[in-house]
This record gives sequence, structure tokens and C-alpha cells, in this order.
Amino acid sequence: MNLQTQFKDRLLSLGLARVTEAAALSCVNHIGRGDEEGADKAAVDAMRTQLNLLDIDGTVVIGEGERDEAPMLFIGEKVGSGNGPKVDIALDPLEGTSLTAKDMPNALTVIAMGPENSILLAPDLYMQKLAIGPNYPPGIVHLDMEPSLIIKTLAKASGRLPQDLTVCILERPRHDNLIEEIRQTGASIRLIVDGDVAAIMHCSDPYRTGIDIYMGIGGAPEGVLAAAALKCMGGQLYGRLVFRNDHETNKAKTMNIHDLERIYSLDDLVQSDVIFSATGVTDGSLLKGIRRYSGYVETDTILLRSKTGSKRHMTYSHPLKC
Ligand code: FBP
Repeated sequence: MNLQTQFKDRLLSLGLARVTEAAALSCVNHIGRGDEEGADKAAVDAMRTQLNLLDIDGTVVIGEGERDEAPMLFIGEKVGSGNGPKVDIALDPLEGTSLTAKDMPNALTVIAMGPENSILLAPDLYMQKLAIGPNYPPGIVHLDMEPSLIIKTLAKASGRLPQDLTVCILERPRHDNLIEEIRQTGASIRLIVDGDVAAIMHCSDPYRTGIDIYMGIGGAPEGVLAAAALKCMGGQLYGRLVFRNDHETNKAKTMNIHDLERIYSLDDLVQSDVIFSATGVTDGSLLKGIRRYSGYVETDTILLRSKTGSKRHMTYSHPLKC
């Protein structure tokens, strides 16, 4: 039996949804309270507890950081009951800690799971990213192209003008030149303050979300998680690790990354079929945030399987007395 067959993705997927639901529910009293650390800790604790109930022999490959900087859900940590398939797990218990603390849109709890050795063991560094939706020929654009050429190429391929396209970018000083160059093409820019997993997921359905392209530098772990989502939803993604100093270069080398210039495609980041779940914490364009009602709390989750391309959108009402 090959690894893919042993990986019971269909059975495991509903368990995965419970994991992101539990992490999101744990944040209910942290939304808009200005306490990023408290929110993150609650989500980590809840995600870990729920993950350990699953019958998997799991290893965290994208997590809260390395063992010395993260007490829980660190890269390399074993999770699950140990009785089940060997799986890789990429997670971000709270993607958008600051968004949660400020009650701003698109904070999510996120997890992806694949068979052992299917998800890139990426260091907790920055990554330059480019993502587009599913309706373009493979390789039509790549990370080394000038941003203005990317816009013109995609406009031509989709029978539109550059001004018909919208590019999503994290609002950071490091992106000032990128923003300036894109503005010259006439394309529109949607600036976000945080949360590029959700932003990249938006590229998979541009007609609904209004985002055609994601560009810029964000977290590498978020890049791998976004790749897992696009593997299920469709789209292309390229990423290249960004090293700011020798410490970061050495960190990558200890994780067996020696080609420091390498451009990773989506299939390099996520090498086989995966399952992916995200639950909304704050209201966003992808998922609704947690809602409080008398006696219960409601969450909104998206559950994806790349093997089938299936997409479940689930509402869960959690009774407050349990
Ligand atoms: P956190 O939830 O870990 O704070 O990450 C939010 C985020 O905006 C990511 O979506 C993004 O990839 C990264 O931070 C960007 O990093 P920085 O804030 O250092 O520019």
C-alpha cells in the first residue's frame, strides 16, 4: 500500500475541521481585546488538544517555530494518538493574531495535512510569493518576471486590460517600490494589513473575491499553508525564501535547504494530495467570524480535499454549556 493510500484523507478531513473549529472557538473572548499573545496561546492550546485526539501519527512540519522558541506545536513535534497513518501537518493556530486583537477582518485558524514527507519542512523565515488563479496556462508567469510584465501578461491572457486586474499586497514599507511599479500599469491594488493565507486563497476565485494576483513578501509558513489551500482550490503559486542575515541562512541549512535561490512551485511546497481546513475568527470575505448567540457560539469553516477538489462550507453551533 503506498503512502497516499494509507493516508485516509476522506476520513481524516472531518476531524481536521474540528481542529480549526476548536482553535477558533478558543479565541471567542480574545477578539478585539488587544491581547495578541493571549489569543495565540488560547488557539495553540485548543488546536493541540484537538489534534491529539485524532488517530494519526503526525509530525508538525510547519508550526509555531522551532522547539527552542515555541513551547507547543513546534516544528518536529509529534501529534495525534500515534495509532494511524504517518502524516505531515502544517498549521497556524491563529493566522492574524493582530487582526484578532484588533477585531479586524480575515483572522483564521488554519491547518493542512498530507502523507509523510509531502509538505515542505520550511523554516520560519520570510518568503517572496506570487499567486494567481486557476484559469491560466501553467507557468504563464513566474517569480523572476518584472511585476509590470506579470500584470500585462495576465491581462492579455484573460482578454482584459491591466486596469481590470486587482493585485493584493501586504502593506509594508518593503513593498513601496512594488506598489509604485504596479500603480504605473494601471492595475488596482488591495492593500491588507495582515493575513496573506486568506489573501492568496482569494486568488482561486477572482470573480467572487475581486483579487486576481497576490504578490510580495510574507511569512514562509503562511506560504506553504496557502500552497496547500491552492492545491485544493486551484491556482498557481511560486515562493522563494528570503534571508536577511547569516543566522537565517544557517537556519535553512540545518533544515536541509542548500539552494538558497530556489523558486518553489506549488507542487514543490506541497508534493501530494492534502486536506485543508480553515475556520474564521473575525469576519472576512472568505469566512464569517465567530458569532455569539444566547447559549451557543457559531463558527464558519471551509474544508478542502485536493484529491477530489471537494469544498465543504460548514457552520457549527457550539452549545456553551459543554
Ligand atoms: P501572524 O498571525 O503570525 O501575526 O501573521 C500575520 C501575517 O500578516 C501573515 O499573514 C504574513 O505572512 C506575515 O504576518 C507577514 O509578516 P510581517 O508582519 O512580519 O510583515
